[in-house]
Amino acid sequence: MEHLVSSWYNDRSLPESYTLPPEDRTGMLPLGKNILVVDLGTHDQTDILQHILEASQEFGMFQVINHGVPSNLINEAMSVFKEFHALSAEDKAIETSKDPSKSCYMYTSTQSYATEKFRFWRDGLLHRCNPLEKYIQFWPEKPPKYRQVVAIYTAELRKVGFRILEFISQGLGVNPDHFRGELGENQTMLVNHYPPCPDPSLTLGLCKHRDPVVINILLQKDVYGLEVFKDEEWIGVEPIPYAFVVTLGVLMQIISNGKLKAAEHRVVTNSNLAWTIAAFALDPFNETLIEPAKALVDTNNPALYKSLSYKDFLIKYRVAASYGTTFEELLID
Ligand code: OGA
Ligand code: NI
Repeated sequence: MEHLVSSWYNDRSLPESYTLPPEDRTGMLPLGKNILVVDLGTHDQTDILQHILEASQEFGMFQVINHGVPSNLINEAMSVFKEFHALSAEDKAIETSKDPSKSCYMYTSTQSYATEKFRFWRDGLLHRCNPLEKYIQFWPEKPPKYRQVVAIYTAELRKVGFRILEFISQGLGVNPDHFRGELGENQTMLVNHYPPCPDPSLTLGLCKHRDPVVINILLQKDVYGLEVFKDEEWIGVEPIPYAFVVTLGVLMQIISNGKLKAAEHRVVTNSNLAWTIAAFALDPFNETLIEPAKALVDTNNPALYKSLSYKDFLIKYRVAASYGTTFEELLID
């Protein structure tokens, strides 16, 4: 836990390992562009469907408002996430090492800390969510309300996630339940924390990447840090209070046979503010086969991606030293 950025950022300048090569550092952000905001409360379902589809094809990312998750629950969830990251390093270690099979753990920078070339300015708490009765016993008990609040929050996000996946399925022309069951029922909560950084121009919270998930539903609340890459430029994702940012992952690109796009995104750092972001992911199980949906493949539309289990996908995905992906390897030559 001594590696956690939050354990040492206060007494040191930026260590060498966090200084990124010039091409990976942050540039000036173009202003005035933004990703689509989809109002899930609109009565016209066709309208919602079209917006989601358009955003999924162009950016692989959109925000949703009027999603039905109460604002007081969002506030409570964000509070317990922040309180968790404010615990002492010792408490964080104790609270995240209850499961010998590591369904709940903490890490810093990336999952490839031992081999990565550069470091990133992020501490992460990761735990599984479903089935709740199996995993909740391993979740943090500090702050004391963590389990109670996060259980309700993740149940709500699961509903939002499947509702969005149903729209996407309809838009793609596959069975509306395509993602229910194996493809989306392994859910995880990743709570990222970014302490204030001495030099945001030299480092990043997370480098450019695509997520190894079906979709991610992010709560960024009111701090700006997330950027999406589109047409060779970075676009800042404007924080809208109580909105969720939905990002499509690599698995969605594979399942849709390239019709929808995995969002390429990164996180910049901030010299004054610490912030916390909660990403709820819908993932497959380890043995689930990931492949283009059968309904989308025929002689005129051959499969663009190889079939492989989620477990093997993750191994390939993590082969890269950092969080960067070896995504092109998954293409059929
Ligand atoms: C991620 C991610 C965004 C954020 O964890 O994959 O992109 O703002 N998180 O923390
Ligand atoms: Ni991501």
